Amino acid sequence: MKNFFILPIFCMGMTAVADPGEDDIIARIQKVGTVCIQGTDCAATEQTTTSADAADFDVVSSYEQSCATCHNLGVAGAPRFAEPSEWEPRISKGMEALYNSAINGLLPTMPARGMCFNCSDDDIRALTDYMVDAAR
Ligand code: HEC
Repeated sequence: MKNFFILPIFCMGMTAVADPGEDDIIARIQKVGTVCIQGTDCAATEQTTTSADAADFDVVSSYEQSCATCHNLGVAGAPRFAEPSEWEPRISKGMEALYNSAINGLLPTMPARGMCFNCSDDDIRALTDYMVDAAR
C-alpha cells in the first residue's frame, strides 16, 4: 500500500529536478542564426532586429574596435584621442568637414569609415563626435 504513495512522489521529484536542466539544454542547442527568405513574415522580424541594433550602436566599443588602433597612438599622423592640440586645427574646419573625412576617408592615411565596414554614416558621425568631444 505504501508503494502507491511513494511512486508518484518520486516521479514528481524527478520532473522537478529534470526541468531546469532541460531548459538549459534546449537554450544551448538553439541554432545560432536563421535563414529568412525575403518577402516572408520572418523578413519583417529581421528588419526590426536590424533597426534595434542600430539604435543600440555602442560608440565606445566601436571606437575601440575600429578607430583606436590608429587614433590612440597617432599612427601615420592620426590626431590622437583626447589630445586637444592635435584636434584643434581639425575642429576649426567645422564638423561637416570632419564627418566628411571620416565617412569618405582622408587619403592616403585615413581610410574611409576608419575601416568600420558595418558602421552607417550616422555611426561614423557619432564616433567623430565622440573623438571631438574627448579632445575639447
Ligand atoms: C588606419 C589608421 C586609421 C584608422 C583605423 C582610423 N583613422 Fe581616422 N585618421 C587617420 C589618420 C592618419 C588621420 C589624419 C589624416 C590626415 O590628416 O591626412 C585621421 C584623421 C581622422 C579625422 C580628422 C579628419 C580631418 O578632416 O581632419 C577624423 C574625424 C577621423 N580620423 C575619424 C576616424 C574614425 C571615426 C575612425 C574609426 C571609425 C578612424 N578615424 C579610424 C588614421 C586612421
